[in-house]
Amino acid sequence: MNTRKPKRIGILTAGGDCPGLNAAIRGVGKTAIVNYGMEVIGFTAGFSGLIEKEYVQLKEHNLSGILTLGGTILGTSREKPYKFVKEGDNEKPELIKNNYHELSLDALVCIGGNGTMKTAERLMEEGLNVIGIPKTIDNDVWGTDVTFGFDSAIQIATEAIDRLHTTANSHQRVMIIEVMGHHTGWIALYAGMAGGGDIILLPELDYNIRSVCKRIEERFESKKAYSIVVVAEGINHPGEQSAGRYVAEAIHTYTGIETRETVLGYVQRGGSPSPMDRILATRYGAFAAQCIAQGDFGTMVAIKNNNLITIPLNEISDRLRFVEEDHPLIVKARQMGVSFGDE
Ligand code: F6P
Repeated sequence: MNTRKPKRIGILTAGGDCPGLNAAIRGVGKTAIVNYGMEVIGFTAGFSGLIEKEYVQLKEHNLSGILTLGGTILGTSREKPYKFVKEGDNEKPELIKNNYHELSLDALVCIGGNGTMKTAERLMEEGLNVIGIPKTIDNDVWGTDVTFGFDSAIQIATEAIDRLHTTANSHQRVMIIEVMGHHTGWIALYAGMAGGGDIILLPELDYNIRSVCKRIEERFESKKAYSIVVVAEGINHPGEQSAGRYVAEAIHTYTGIETRETVLGYVQRGGSPSPMDRILATRYGAFAAQCIAQGDFGTMVAIKNNNLITIPLNEISDRLRFVEEDHPLIVKARQMGVSFGDE
């Protein structure tokens, strides 16, 4: 444990952006400055800023007015300093260490998803005082009950599904909506349930396209005018096309029923954070500043049963938080006749 009182801290946002990043930056920064009298700098474009020593001074006034803003005022990138793909890449970790020391940093806050936590762990092993804050719309960071960005994303996806119901009904079509979630189906499950999806396909559950088609035919036979199929982008499927396109084509081919697909894409990551995400990101940020003041490093802040805790970064590495097949929402959904394509 570091006994010296932290004075100067750096913050960066890495990986794909999501609503709530600015709320988290603000939470860390304001608490660090106002409550602990620290100095705060923000690295631009994720780990690239740390490698290239590009940063901005964050004073309290720079942190005002950003709570409601989407994206990140610092910018982000998918730079992975420990992934050596071309000549010279192996110098990146050294550059990071040198810059950290040259800038007299006492701690570094890394706001990101799974990849960012992995990099944070490596930096911790190199002797840097690191603390992680979990974010991603995908909600798949291991060790925490929820990441910020997720609530905003399911709000956007749910609204999109709501809108599909009326046009599906008018035309008596099967509407397929593909939502984000490369490895996990949290968005598909939550938005699918909130939006009244009839069939929900998740990467975690093996579906059978014939069962999906059978369910759709049964619905039409029982006078249900239309069906809504919510598909996570990461479901296993043949061919090169998107998951939504594959499912739409397959349903049309096997049933002859008219289908249309919507790939929701990046709108799920854009715009102002929901109130719940603002609160969550603020809590995470303020708690991270507190952890730094207390010398609790090498950890990620997390939420368990609505309590803020820290988890050692080396417990998280390479683990994803998947939707369990007996997740209570899945159990309830099945009891209500929602199909997951695996019956
Ligand atoms: O933020 C997570 C995520 O949205 C995934 O669901 C998606 O597949 C991925 O990021 C795409 O991000 P990018 O195109 O920025 O790499």
